[in-house]
Amino acid sequence: MSESSLIIDCDPGVDDGVALLLAFASPELDILGVTTVAGNVSAALTARNARVIRHIARRPDVPVLAGCQRPLVRPPVEAGHFHGETGLGDLSLDPVADDGECRHAVDFLVSTLMERPAGTIDVVVTGPFTNLAMAMVREPEIIARVRRVVVMGGARREGGNITASAEYNIFADPHAAQIVFGSGAAIVVHGLDATHQVRATEARIAAIEALDGASARACATLLRFSRRIEAEQVRGLDAPLHDPCPIAWLLAPELFETVPCEIQVETASPLTLGHTAVEFRLADPAAATIHWVTAADGQGVFDLITERLAT
Ligand code: BDR
Ligand code: CA
Repeated sequence: MSESSLIIDCDPGVDDGVALLLAFASPELDILGVTTVAGNVSAALTARNARVIRHIARRPDVPVLAGCQRPLVRPPVEAGHFHGETGLGDLSLDPVADDGECRHAVDFLVSTLMERPAGTIDVVVTGPFTNLAMAMVREPEIIARVRRVVVMGGARREGGNITASAEYNIFADPHAAQIVFGSGAAIVVHGLDATHQVRATEARIAAIEALDGASARACATLLRFSRRIEAEQVRGLDAPLHDPCPIAWLLAPELFETVPCEIQVETASPLTLGHTAVEFRLADPAAATIHWVTAADGQGVFDLITERLAT
């Protein structure tokens, strides 16, 4: 178990919601803030959804900061078909008070990384990379100050999930992803090759449904929704659980295997826009700053979520 201060940058999103519930239930994570971005649903909805999850988890101590309202260059592309109209599937959304927080997510990323000691903050990204890319452009010094960037995004062996070539978070803002992957920051990447190994089987959801408490109930509702949508739209396989993987890696890195790599993002071809070219053939693997997750222990990740939501 590792101690970590972190900022979670996300676009809730059903699986972002599960990631937040896992993080909020993990006392060893010092969550400095949750920043949100336009992605699965609009920027207004992702910020609202993060506040809803924070309310369920009873973590009013964590600020939620709304961020960029559209990708850097390309037009927005949402994924409501996988997350429902609200972005949180079938979860009933009790009204949450507007807490008056008006700092912008990009300002928060820059000021927090500049004010805290260098090398002490991890940034987890589970949505399009727009906020972090903007922060890196605005203040390049944050690149050397961030401890690790831990992202969900990209695909190599598995191919794409929004097009044949591209995974959604990268497709939604490929120019931002190229800035982040080209930055030189230390990055751990949970692409579809990893997250497709972490699937919400009937038995794994039932184990969470058997728990008491608002966070466990919300988690089970989100997972049931994903399972139903996956069955309707993809057919044949249990729903993959993407966004909790980076949080699980922070909590239990032994559940994952990584390989050093370099990553370039396709930003020019309309056919393969957002494709991640993940190169393992490196002249000096020890000097690599990016690590690609090749294997994930799906049962281990679900056991971790279940254990955390039980307490
Ligand atoms: C990613 O895309 C989004 O729809 C999910 O929330 C996840 O971050 C998976 O490709
Ligand atoms: Ca997401």
